[in-house]
Amino acid sequence: MANISIISSSVRDGRNSHRMALFLQNYITINKLAESEIIDLKDYQFPIFNERLRLLKNPTEQMTQFAEKIKLSDGIIIVTPEYNGSIPASLKNVVDFLYDEWHHKPVAISTVSTGAFGGSQALITLQFVLWKMHAWTVPATLPIANVREVFDEEGKAFKQEIMNTLTHVFVNELLWCVQANKRMIEPFELAIF
Ligand SMILES: Cc1cc2nc3c(=O)[nH]c(=O)nc-3n(C[C@H](O)[C@H](O)[C@H](O)COP(=O)(O)O)c2cc1C
Repeated sequence: MANISIISSSVRDGRNSHRMALFLQNYITINKLAESEIIDLKDYQFPIFNERLRLLKNPTEQMTQFAEKIKLSDGIIIVTPEYNGSIPASLKNVVDFLYDEWHHKPVAISTVSTGAFGGSQALITLQFVLWKMHAWTVPATLPIANVREVFDEEGKAFKQEIMNTLTHVFVNELLWCVQANKRMIEPFELAIF
């Protein structure tokens, strides 16, 4: 079974996008699609970036543990709010902080907003940033507009059927990319190294 990490990016008090992270984990677990874990950036409270992990002399245990989780994940889902047409600093902080860990990593993006556009500008920004990091962004996306009308605080969808249909397509495409990635990379690594 694939191992999927869900990064919940908002560290804001009273955040709403975390509802989507909770919903996704629940969906993956109930449907037995993968092993999944929420990596909640609010729990980490990382300091503002001052150097990449590989160049830090004394990284904290939390930092190395975070990097290890990303490295060992077969695929990642990033749930991010849109802040001023972009991604929150908390997310850019951890993207910049790692390097090799993002290479060839299948990443699916779910953007969230309280407004009507579902974080469409954050989506473009994040895709560009991840492309620079040589991650593989999954073509399927899952933007959530008017998030407070979609989920309650525990991540339960008010319209289960619609959310399940949308999430099915999104998660399955990530899992397809995870399988494709394994098939491409493993023989390549065996041949080269
Ligand atoms: C600093 C800040 C900037 C924001 N900018 C935008 C924005 O550009 N577009 C948008 O649709 N929503 C914007 N929002 C509203 C978010 O969509 C809303 O807070 C949503 O709940 C997701 O963020 P959260 O998980 O931190 O709650 C902004 C919110 C904050 C706190």
